[in-house]
This record gives sequence, C-alpha cells and structure tokens, in this order.
Amino acid sequence: MMHQSAAAGGHDIAARAVVTRRAALSDKYFRAKVIFGPENRTSRKSSPVDPRAVPWKPVKRLRMTSPISRDACAARDKADPLAALRDAFELPEGVIYLDGNSLGPLPRATRARVLQAMEREWGQGLITSWNDAGWIDLPQRIGGKIARLIGAQADEVIAVDSTSVNLFKLLAGALALRPQRRVIVSETGNFPTDLYIAQGLASLQGAGHELRLVERERIADAIDEHTAVVMLTQVDYRSGSCLDMAAVTALAHRAGALMLWDLAHSAGALAVDLNGTGADLAVGCGYKYLNGGPGAPAFAFVARALQENFDQPLSGWLGHASPFAFETGYRPAPGIARLQCGTAPVLSMTALESGVDTLLLAESAGGLPALRRKSLQLGDLFIERVAARCADHPLRLITPRAHEQRGSQVSYAIGDPQMGYAVIQALIARGVIGDFRAPDILRFGLAPAYLRATDVWDAVEHLGQVLDTGQWREARFMSRKAVT
Ligand SMILES: Cc1ncc(COP(=O)(O)O)c(C=O)c1O
Repeated sequence: MMHQSAAAGGHDIAARAVVTRRAALSDKYFRAKVIFGPENRTSRKSSPVDPRAVPWKPVKRLRMTSPISRDACAARDKADPLAALRDAFELPEGVIYLDGNSLGPLPRATRARVLQAMEREWGQGLITSWNDAGWIDLPQRIGGKIARLIGAQADEVIAVDSTSVNLFKLLAGALALRPQRRVIVSETGNFPTDLYIAQGLASLQGAGHELRLVERERIADAIDEHTAVVMLTQVDYRSGSCLDMAAVTALAHRAGALMLWDLAHSAGALAVDLNGTGADLAVGCGYKYLNGGPGAPAFAFVARALQENFDQPLSGWLGHASPFAFETGYRPAPGIARLQCGTAPVLSMTALESGVDTLLLAESAGGLPALRRKSLQLGDLFIERVAARCADHPLRLITPRAHEQRGSQVSYAIGDPQMGYAVIQALIARGVIGDFRAPDILRFGLAPAYLRATDVWDAVEHLGQVLDTGQWREARFMSRKAVT
C-alpha cells in the first residue's frame, strides 16, 4: 500500500508538471509532442529507457469486465482477410511463434527456391548463372520489391550487406553531405549496433565528430545547427513504442540535418512511407518481418534526390560504375547501385527474395494497411487478455496502448531479470516462443502475416499458467544461454 500511494503521488507531480508546461505553452513541450503524437504522456510513461523509474502500475487495475472468449477469437480468425497468408509459411506443429520480429519463419516457397538456386543455377549453370539466372541483379531486384513495403521508389532501395554495415555506409555518406557539421544525434535507447557504428565512425573521422545521445523525449531539443544527421530506429526494440516519422523528419530538416531511419522493426509490419515523410536515408533487416532467413542480407534506402552526390566509403568493386572494366580508380555506379561493396551472398539473397515475395502476397488482401490493422488488433487483444488473465502477477505493460505509438510487438517489464528470463524459457518449453530483453523485459512479436487471434489467446493462457503455477522456477529455466 505504501508503495502504491507513493507511486500515486509521483503521478500527481508528473501531471502537475505537464499542466504547468502546457500553461506556459513552451516550445519544448510542443516539440516533444510532435515526436510522439497526440498521446505523448502515455508514451513517456511507457518509455523503455529506465523501466524501473516508472511508478508501479499493477495490471490488476486494468481488469476487463467481460474478457473476450476463445470462441470469439476463432470467429475473428475466420473473418480475417489475411488468413490464407498463414499457409504460405512452414510453422512447426504445436508452436505459437511470437518472435517473428527477431527471426521470421520459413516461407513454404523458400525451400524450393533455394534448392533450385543451389542445384540448377549453381550446380548446373555454374558461373554462367551470374548472367543467365540473374544473380547479378538480385540486390536491385529485391530492393525494388522491398521498396513497395516502405513507401519508396524501386530505384531507391537495394538489398545488401547487414544492417550494421549499411548504417556505417549511410552515416558516413550523410556526414560527407554535411561537411561543416560534426554531430550525429540519436537516442540512448537506440539499438546498440546503431550506437556502436556511430561511435566507431565518429572516431574514425578524426575531426571532432560526436554522437549526441539523449533520451527519446529530448530528441527535439538535441537537434540544432551542428547536427549533420539524426539517426533513429522508428520502433523501439524493447518497448515497441513507435516514433512519428513525418514529425521527426521535419524537425531534422528544419535544422538542416539529414534523417536516417532504422526500420528493422517496421519494414513488413507497419505502413512505412519513406517518400511521403520526406526521409533521406534508411536501413532495415531482412531476417525479421521480411522472413529472409537467419543472417539474411539487409536493405538500404537513399532518397533519389541525394543519390547523385552520395559517397559511401566502402567503395568495393561491385559499387563501381563499370566493375568488369577492372579500372584502377574508383568511379561510383550511378544511383543506388553504388551502395554495393563486394559479391552478394546469392543463396541468402534467394531466400530473402522468397521471403519478400511471400509478404507481398498480402497485396491482394489489402497489403500493408491490412497487415498493420491486423497487427494492432492482435496487440490490443494481447494487452486485453494479459490484463484479464494475468492480473495477479507483476507484469507492467511498457508498450504504448495508442495505436499510432505502437509497433508490432507487446512488451512487459516483470521487475526481476531472473524471473523474466525464466518465464520466457518456460513458455518456449510449452511451444510459445517469445523472447527476453535485458533488464527484465518479456517481448512478444505479433507478425500479422501468420498469427491468429487464437494464437494470442492461447499464448496468454500459457503465460498465465506459467505464472500461476510458478513453473518458471524450475532449475532448467534458469541457466542463461548465449542468445536470449
Ligand atoms: C533496430 C535494429 N537495428 C539493427 C539490428 C542489427 O542488424 P544486423 O545484425 O543486420 O547488423 C537489429 C537486430 O536485431 C535491430 O533490432
């Protein structure tokens, strides 16, 4: 009780502070509001930056009066316009897969496609397949398909390298386009590889470049006339909270900076509109919602208007204007092709193309808007079911409820790192695969291409059982594996 009233006092103070700021009509408040959209305050409370600093809010208070039944979920699945898409994936019997935001499942078509590339194209065609099977065109061909999923033109996207390597190339290119500026702005909670790459690049410049890191709420204040590029991940990998792309991009542009988005947790699940929001640069993963397989190549986007003057430092031969002229000096290829460095991993590219093609099947059933709608419905259901079924357990929702602030996952902080890890392991043992993110976060990805409402209902039932019975306390769930 003591704890709760202290928390309530904290809420009051926070509310008064917001009211005061509103009354003052401070520019700072409005700039923060722009970033998060209309329900900024909700988003702040559910910020992943330091979950333990947020006042405790038991799930119990959110108990629904008439929770949805499993039969009602089955009826939803029957009426789902995207239902048939599930059959395009090989999902293991008895598994509820809530980790497609980390590694997408195997699309049915991929097995045959990769076998063909291996047996016919490589085995029989040998080196002639670079031309005859179109291997040389794979990066741009797949890029053109990914473009349809992220609101870009076909010639603005290329499938190439890893997300980390693409971040390096795009950040370096961005710094070269703003030679008088020395600052990369990002947020402390950004995915670590983004920060590590920016740190490495800044020190490599040797010219006083800096990575300026702030918490999400303060991004607007951190962007100024010294900012060369703002680098942010649209959907936070831990909480699933989602930035307003148009608003943040506008803030960057107003300061004369370039905007680089990491779409790792957006591409294939959200209706991203790079061109519509005026984004300059973007990267994203091929192995998450694009279902390209473990270690699949990533993608890079450079807006058409920037391409002609865009120099990236990994000037390998396949980004050359004429690779087979074997010239001594580097001349960049025209357009997006200059983002290439070395030889593409053809078998992985083949799997990625199959993954993207599989997702594009959704176009006949409403496309990205339909995927996004379904993802949000699954998220709402997950949140509602946890509130109803797991009310007596210390799960604290850290994902924003507001649709415009939410990606395609639902996450809970559980307060105890060991318990969090063990609960996820116990769920995996039951065939419900989610994942754990330090310090204490249970993360459930909701890929709309193959998940059903009944899967969500069943997953939460398992979660309730694991918590009710204390099954997570079993020794076998306690030892940490290398990958969590
Ligand atoms: C937001 C984000 N960016 C980048 C990466 C890493 O990408 P890669 O392993 O392709 O370098 C991840 C991986 O999960 C991620 O979540």
